[in-house]
Parts: sequence; structure tokens; C-alpha cells
Amino acid sequence: MVFLAKAPAASEIDWQNLGFNYMDLPYRFLAHYQDGKWDEGGLTEDGTLHISEGSTALHYGQADFEGLKAYRTKDGDIQLFRPDRNAARMHKSCERLLMPAFPEDKFVEAVKAVVKANADYVPPYGTGGTLYLRPLMIGVGGNIGVHPAQEYIFTIFAMPVGAYYKGGVTPTNFTTSYYDRAAPHGTGQSKVGGNYGGSLLPGDEAHKAGYSDVIYLDPATHTKIEEAGSANFFGITKDNEFVTPKSDSILPSITKYSLLYLAEHNLGMKPVQGDVFIDNLDRFTEAGAMGTAAVIAPIGGIEYQDNLHVFYSETEVGPVTQKLYDTLTGIQFGDVEAPEGWIQKVEL
Ligand SMILES: Cc1ncc(COP(=O)(O)O)c(C=O)c1O
Repeated sequence: MVFLAKAPAASEIDWQNLGFNYMDLPYRFLAHYQDGKWDEGGLTEDGTLHISEGSTALHYGQADFEGLKAYRTKDGDIQLFRPDRNAARMHKSCERLLMPAFPEDKFVEAVKAVVKANADYVPPYGTGGTLYLRPLMIGVGGNIGVHPAQEYIFTIFAMPVGAYYKGGVTPTNFTTSYYDRAAPHGTGQSKVGGNYGGSLLPGDEAHKAGYSDVIYLDPATHTKIEEAGSANFFGITKDNEFVTPKSDSILPSITKYSLLYLAEHNLGMKPVQGDVFIDNLDRFTEAGAMGTAAVIAPIGGIEYQDNLHVFYSETEVGPVTQKLYDTLTGIQFGDVEAPEGWIQKVEL
């Protein structure tokens, strides 16, 4: 059975027009957990996993993942943005699902090995493209009861990607959802597969209604903004505050914590984490979604109870959002000085 078409040669890729699509690149990292320990793991060319029908990932959602990017700088170097934060977050996700975390230092080493092995596929500087990395862990082996697996697979694969939201740095509209993405004391803080399975239907309904994605409200009261699709939400106030929701059921976005820091230290804004009530959007002059895939995606307006609340503009990015975008992407692509420890070079 053939599931995967091999990626085209790097020289044949149209870097300017990359989407966010799976590609079977030449190399990925693969490690196994058996008899109570992880093996060393290594690079492999086979992108197909052969696993038991009794794998807990298939039945009971013992599956978590990460997402991060490698960036090509002006000098042709390749660098990673805070990969240690992804390793730490995956550790937490594993703890939540009773999975054995892959050691954090080895996680970062493995990411670098995958980038180096697929270096031809890191898009050239200036195209806006990046190499997206997807670390993934699943419970495998013969199981049937609702118990954690005894065996696990950890893999990291990669693909070159362009902008996540089709419009790039132009605004799109979001709609609020009747559905919740996470329960108040559930798994919303963890990057686990089940959270995303449950988000497919609301996402599909939003797309069919003409919106780019869903604004999820807090699951307990449905009065406060929690997430913007698979990204965190931010709003800018006229008092120069960078505001983002605080809640135990949203994913702790690495982009969010980075922007809270940059808003304060690079842009002189006041960083605020707190309640963002859906019936009080007038306080914001600009709004956006932030995440590794989305980078910073300006939100034109949010539909709530049949009204569209427009922030800055439905067609143009606001000045503060643009500055945040330029600062963050400047750091990621090596054009703006990064705070200590944020950037890790990949030795080629
Ligand atoms: C639900 C959700 N929220 C927020 C984010 C943004 O997190 P990060 O900035 O770490 O990519 C992601 C993507 O990882 C996500 O899936």
C-alpha cells in the first residue's frame, strides 16, 4: 500500500506559493519507548508508521504533538525560535496523558538533526516560507483496556510551509462558536490530539459561513474569549496595552509569551493577561490571532450574536499589529536582535 508521494526535489519547489500542506521529505526522526525507556532514536527515510490495532493513540487519544519552525536568515544560516519551550510544553502534555516525555535536551537535538538532514527544504530568506516541524508522540502496542500504553513512538517530521492564513498579514473575520474546544479542568492547556478532533466541526461550520476560523469562548460561562482557532487571541487598547486572555483551558502559546515580552520591552506597551469579555470588544483598537503557524494574523472583525464587531479595519492591518509582526518575524529570521536564549542556530 502506498500512502505517500515523495516530496518534489527542493529545486522544483515554488517557494513563493507554498501553502500549509503535508510533504513527505527525505528524513524524519524516530524513537521508540519500550521496557520502560526511550531508545536513542535516529533519522529514517520511511514516513509510514506500522503500528498495532491495539495502539492507545487510536482508541483513547494517547497522542500529543508540537509545532515549531526553522527559519533561513539573510546569510543563509538556519535557526530555530525557542525550541526548548516546545520541548518543555510537550513534556507537560505527556504528563497530562500519562505518557513518558522524551528528554527535553534530546528533543531539541532531534529537531536540529531533522532540519539539518532536510536543509535543502528550508525556504530561502525573503520568501516568507519556513520549515515547519511536527514532533509527535503516540501510545502504541497491543492494548484494549483504558490504560496507558507500555510502548510509545516519538517522531519529528518536517515540511516547507508558507503563510497559514490565506490573506497573510491582511485581516480576516472570525465567528464565535457555540462549541467548546476544551472543558474547564480538561486538557485545553495541553497540546493533545483530542482537542483538535473536537475542533474540526466548529472550524468547518465557520469556514462554510465565510469566516477564517472560530473564536472559542470560555467553556464555563461563554462570556470571555479564550482562543482564536488554533492560535491565542490578543487585543490592543487605546491606552497602549497588549491584552491576552488568561485561562487554565487555553494552550500556553509560545508566540503569546514572546509577544507579551516584546510588546513591553521592544514596543513600550503594557502587557496584560486577564479576562476578555466578548460583549466588551470596544476597548480594543486592534486585535489578532498569534501562534507558530498563524504568526500574527490580524482579526478584521468578530461575529457574535449576529453582529460583526470590526476592530481596526476589515481590509488593512493596524499599525501596532504590524509593528508586533515586524518585530517578531525580524527576530525569527535573524534581522532583529533576539532576547537572550530565544534563537538556536542549526549547525550545517
Ligand atoms: C489551540 C492552540 N492555541 C494556540 C497555539 C499557538 O501556540 P504557539 O504559539 O506555541 O504555536 C496553538 C498552536 O500551537 C494551538 O494549537
